[in-house]
Amino acid sequence: ITKHTMKVFVTRRIPQEGMAILKQAGICEVSVWDSDEPVPRSDLLKRVEGVHGLLCMLSDRIDTEVLDAAGPNLKVISTLSVGFDHLAIDELRKRGIRLGYTPDVLTDATAELTVALLLATARRLPEGIQEVKSGGWSSWKPLWLCGYGLSGSTVGVLGLGRIGLAIAQRLKPFGVKRLLYTGRHPKPHAQEVDGEYVPLDTLLCESDFVVVSCALTPDTCGLCDKAFFSKMKTTAVFINTSRLGAVVNQDDLFEALSIGQIAAAGLDVTSPEPLPTDHPLLTLTNCVILPHIGSATYSTRATMAKLSANNLLAGLTRDAMPSELKL
Ligand code: NDP
Ligand code: DGY
Repeated sequence: ITKHTMKVFVTRRIPQEGMAILKQAGICEVSVWDSDEPVPRSDLLKRVEGVHGLLCMLSDRIDTEVLDAAGPNLKVISTLSVGFDHLAIDELRKRGIRLGYTPDVLTDATAELTVALLLATARRLPEGIQEVKSGGWSSWKPLWLCGYGLSGSTVGVLGLGRIGLAIAQRLKPFGVKRLLYTGRHPKPHAQEVDGEYVPLDTLLCESDFVVVSCALTPDTCGLCDKAFFSKMKTTAVFINTSRLGAVVNQDDLFEALSIGQIAAAGLDVTSPEPLPTDHPLLTLTNCVILPHIGSATYSTRATMAKLSANNLLAGLTRDAMPSELKL
């Protein structure tokens, strides 16, 4: 095949900065699912037929069925995300398909959003805003809408990776007294935030804020369950910006929030996404839920689009990718 006959499918409308790179490269024919909504599964299976490259989203499940539908031409997948739990990694490895992803470029935006969510949850901002709108604000009241502050607190980070560290760096200046973290290994970079590596149980018993920023893996799936919440302080705030609800057992979280086992929760990720509007978690005033917007700044999304386009092109030309996940 000549380079010009290579075919690429992009599964969603992406920032134009990324599309421009793909088009200007002039080495492939680009077809796009030109919508802000996900490509239906049946269309995905048709549109990938014979492609050499696939640029996908975290909401596209790329499994054996999709890879079979694409066929043997497929040499590179580029995901517009740092998370890669939506891809059948073992199958990619077996088939020799390379994978590009977008680490680092979204770390700051996601850490900022996590801090915003933590403060909004701990200081009860959505409740306050609602009271102002509904006329519930009758006077300044000494006991009204009190929450929890970071000053003098202990923060526990579950998964002090790129984003976990960036969250810790942003929280420390609020006067956090102790920064605990847990994971599979101690991290040398924890020194930057005076992080103390502790067992999970210690982190849960001692933290005023528990922040989950680990990847979704078989080990972390369902990690935050009834036993997990029962070890947390009743005054503690739980924050999850990691991956889908899968790291969290949402039924157990609902119970912990309802019975006052923990004080409040802030989630940027749920299971499923979108969360049905009649989901029990949405009935709770002490649960703040955002629609997976961790990396959603204009500039971050543009940078992610450029990086994923460049990853894809490098995969097509068999060059080194700017960000390849070694399988
Ligand atoms: P990193 O790979 O840098 O960090 C992942 C962390 O997960 C590591 O510190 C790792 O710790 C930890 N981890 C893995 N297994 C376990 C375990 N069994 N128990 C505890 N910790 C564990 O990734 P990033 O920081 O770049 O991204 C993290 C995740 O954040 C992504 O996978 C993605 O799902 C999510 N994300 C969400 C966004 C949003 O919009 N809400 C935006 C961007 C990312 P160790 O090295 O010790 O194993
Ligand atoms: C990711 O990249 O994995 C996030 O969830 C979205 O940016």
